Amino acid sequence: MKKWFAVIGDPIKHSKSPEMHHFWYEDMQEDAAYVPIHVTPDTLAQAVESMKLLGASGWNVTIPHKETILPLLDALDEQAAKMGAVNTVVRQPDGTLKGYNTDGLGFVRSLEEAIGDTQKSARLLIIGAGGAARGIAFALQASGYTTITIANRTVEKAAAIVEEMQAGEAISLQQAGEQLAQFDILVQTTSAGLSDDFSMPFPLTHLREGAIVADIVYNPLITPFLQAAQQQGARIVTGVGMFVHQGAIAYEHWLHKTPNTNAMIARLTTQLGGN
Ligand code: ATR
Repeated sequence: MKKWFAVIGDPIKHSKSPEMHHFWYEDMQEDAAYVPIHVTPDTLAQAVESMKLLGASGWNVTIPHKETILPLLDALDEQAAKMGAVNTVVRQPDGTLKGYNTDGLGFVRSLEEAIGDTQKSARLLIIGAGGAARGIAFALQASGYTTITIANRTVEKAAAIVEEMQAGEAISLQQAGEQLAQFDILVQTTSAGLSDDFSMPFPLTHLREGAIVADIVYNPLITPFLQAAQQQGARIVTGVGMFVHQGAIAYEHWLHKTPNTNAMIARLTTQLGGN
């Protein structure tokens, strides 16, 4: 039987995952399909049952279901359990469902593509303390990064992540702005980056020379935060790499093969107006 996969979310129509996975199926001569499915919060449980019944081999989970899907699954990967969020579901050979989270590792792979994987002692500043920031913080820690600071509007939320990691430091946005020269890598994860009335969490005037600034938002490709960082002379890492790598890790879980991430990053970057 032809294998089929999906992405479930609300809204779903802007997702680039179907295009990305179909590109890889063609590239790797995989006889599979990947469909976007609009699932509202009140129908999530029914949707999961239906996907099981209809024989989906796996699916991606996006906003707003990443946390609420947990009790509907039979097993959780250790990292996903730690993060309390799932973005990839794998149907096991015995028909049970196992949840993974590939977002954080996707970010780490994207970052290391830009900076190499030898800078584990780089001083990292994560801006934001929501679900995305949690995933990235845990994945950075699991990948060996030793110096992680989290800055958030609500400092208590940053402190809660630091407590769970048993490492790192939580600071306010104002402190982050004041201490900016101490950091080698900045990671912008707040949802504020998506809104039309975006305002900088803090000015980037004290950014150190040679700093690397990453954003997890990939559309627009060059977010206002990245624009400001470029103006300060920083090297930027767009959100496209994270998006492609989270999809590639999901592909590996499902099909046990590694798709071509470079070609996909180049294709999406061009599509989104970059070079
Ligand atoms: P996600 O799961 O995508 O990370 P989230 O869990 O809703 O989304 O988290 C959103 C993050 O963006 C939080 O860190 C939030 O700060 P608070 O914890 O103080 O709410 C941050 N955020 C959202 N709007 C913001 C704004 N206008 N200024 C600064 N931070 C903002």
